Amino acid sequence: MSTEEKTSIPVCPASELSRGERRIIEHEGEPIAVFNCDGDLLAIEDRCSHDDGPLAEGNWNPEECTVECPRHGSIFDLHTGRPKTLPAFQPVRTFTVEIIDDTITLEV
Ligand code: FES
Repeated sequence: MSTEEKTSIPVCPASELSRGERRIIEHEGEPIAVFNCDGDLLAIEDRCSHDDGPLAEGNWNPEECTVECPRHGSIFDLHTGRPKTLPAFQPVRTFTVEIIDDTITLEV
């Protein structure tokens, strides 16, 4: 059984990430992207599982909650972190996002 402790880190005030917006932060040198998909707050690691592409810099679709890797075009589901199209076939990490005292917070 894992005894790994989770840490909460602040991202930004909730009012600063409106529907259809995204924000990239860094935690211990790892980029993490937070998306507001039509009201759902979702976060994934900002590194493609195929070839380390800067995933969150690609086009994304707030209605479908997907992002397209700018390097080779795999489309990822932001809810699950799983790729829906090749060439990527491994999921990326996802993170729990909460609003605590009007601040968007990530569990890492
Ligand atoms: S690096 Fe993302 S699809 Fe290749």
